[in-house]
Amino acid sequence: MKTQTVNGAELAYVDAGAGRPVVLVHGFPLDHSMWNAQIDALSEDYRVIAPDLRGFGRSGVSEGTVTMQQFADDLAGLLCALQVDEPVVLCGLSMGGYVAWQFWRQHGWRLRGLILCDTRAVSDTPEAAAARREMAQRVLREGPAPLVAQMMPRLFAPSTAQDQPELVESLRGVMLKTDPRGIAAAARGMAERPEMVSQLNQIECPALVIVGELDAISTAEEMRAIARAIPHARLVEIAGCGHMSPLERPAEVSAAMREFLGGLA
Ligand code: MLT
Repeated sequence: MKTQTVNGAELAYVDAGAGRPVVLVHGFPLDHSMWNAQIDALSEDYRVIAPDLRGFGRSGVSEGTVTMQQFADDLAGLLCALQVDEPVVLCGLSMGGYVAWQFWRQHGWRLRGLILCDTRAVSDTPEAAAARREMAQRVLREGPAPLVAQMMPRLFAPSTAQDQPELVESLRGVMLKTDPRGIAAAARGMAERPEMVSQLNQIECPALVIVGELDAISTAEEMRAIARAIPHARLVEIAGCGHMSPLERPAEVSAAMREFLGGLA
């Protein structure tokens, strides 16, 4: 991986292939490696930039709270540092989608299109936000294990967990290795993220919405509503798949992304 210092943080990123730029933003508490299949599939025809957000993977850690806007500003700063001046397609999964909304709000002129995978447009309820903050404290005291134990059962479709245990174990490994300070900062940032439902109808760029039919975190019903609200959105539902669609069904997700990217002006 390469590194760049952006907004005071050292960001590690993959920069593969050549052509129109596509940026892949991972979920929580993961790193760029969740996109390995898409990096391979898309870098044949596109320049694929897949960072570890600050606090995750090999990137530097900031303590306290890191907002979704800060992550979005980091992405814009990284593009600037890499001298990517043409518009990008930004693709985010779950927390990566929360970052994508903020990128659209603050850096929309940089967008050719959006790909929203298994994400949500609502903000946290007060109870959910309080639970996140409590979990952030617990992770700082005990390490990532309690969070990982809470999240794991909701990440994959039951059939994936049964048929591909090595996939589940490797993701567990990524989560357990994540710096507790990075986890806590992003959890607090997610707790204060703004709602986006009321702004979806203002998104003018083309969007692809991808959801696993059995996603237990960002449900298919919720993502159908997101696709209906964005004026130029296409929905792809992946049958029998859970929250981690790019990992659970890499070929289907890559094919949907390629089709969307190929159709952009
Ligand atoms: C994710 O996959 O990024 C998380 O489930 C997002 C969240 O906790 O809201």
